Amino acid sequence: MSELNLILLGPPGAGKGTQAARLRDDFDLPYYATGDILREAVKEESELGGEAKSYMDRGDLVPDDVICRVVVERVDSDEARDGFILDGFPRTIPQAGELEGALRGLGRRLTATLLIDAPDEEVIRRLSGRRVCKENGHTYHVEFDPPKNEGFCDSDGSPLSQRDDDEAETVKHRLEVFHAQTKPLVEHYEKEGVLRRFDGTRAPDEVNGHIRATLATLRLEEEL
Ligand code: AP5
Ligand code: MG
Repeated sequence: MSELNLILLGPPGAGKGTQAARLRDDFDLPYYATGDILREAVKEESELGGEAKSYMDRGDLVPDDVICRVVVERVDSDEARDGFILDGFPRTIPQAGELEGALRGLGRRLTATLLIDAPDEEVIRRLSGRRVCKENGHTYHVEFDPPKNEGFCDSDGSPLSQRDDDEAETVKHRLEVFHAQTKPLVEHYEKEGVLRRFDGTRAPDEVNGHIRATLATLRLEEEL
């Protein structure tokens, strides 16, 4: 079977993590979410966490060299031999260049960049209501996807809390950063012919259905 080397691209709160959880079940691929990796590093107070914390608290991007190191190592690992899902990377043109260079060096290429799009007002509504479990990062929304027991995770029972960077002012800044630094990647991947667009304002299962249909078509095309 051909490799699936996938990127999830989109504004904060568009549903990248929500879709990734479904795609991981569907395709059994390793999942590398740079935001999750960095938050874990901050929690562990590792060297990487120390480098990243102040940028993340402000809603700024961490420097390209810091994050590229983290990702290239994983893409070049044994578990990612048959493919990977990257969520939140690349986020700048230099990061995209690093990834393409690394893949080229391994004789591989991107299968698709999946753009999940949502307007700013929707992002603000989603992030103000997002709740995340302390143990495993399972994600809920107080209105759109509430847990059965308010304040506690359905899967592991751990308490739910808000992400530090989901505070209103920080969300506003994260959106500005997305428009200035990450949006140019849309055109970049369009030119490369690997961009696939999805309407992130649809219900999660509907977005998942569209993504699966697109990936099935891509695989058929590769096998022809
Ligand atoms: P990161 O963790 O990647 O944050 P983000 O890109 O801002 O995206 P989010 O995780 O907030 O949103 P999401 O799209 O995953 O949405 P979700 O599925 O949770 O990055 C955090 C920080 O790390 C950055 O600011 C930066 O500092 C640093 N960083 C990370 N990568 C970096 C890089 N490459 N370079 C430099 N710095 C980097 O959904 C959101 C909410 O909406 C949830 O409540 C969910 O339940 C709900 N929801 C989801 N889908 C739907 C739907 N279809 N309908 C209704 N509700 C929905
Ligand atoms: Mg996420």
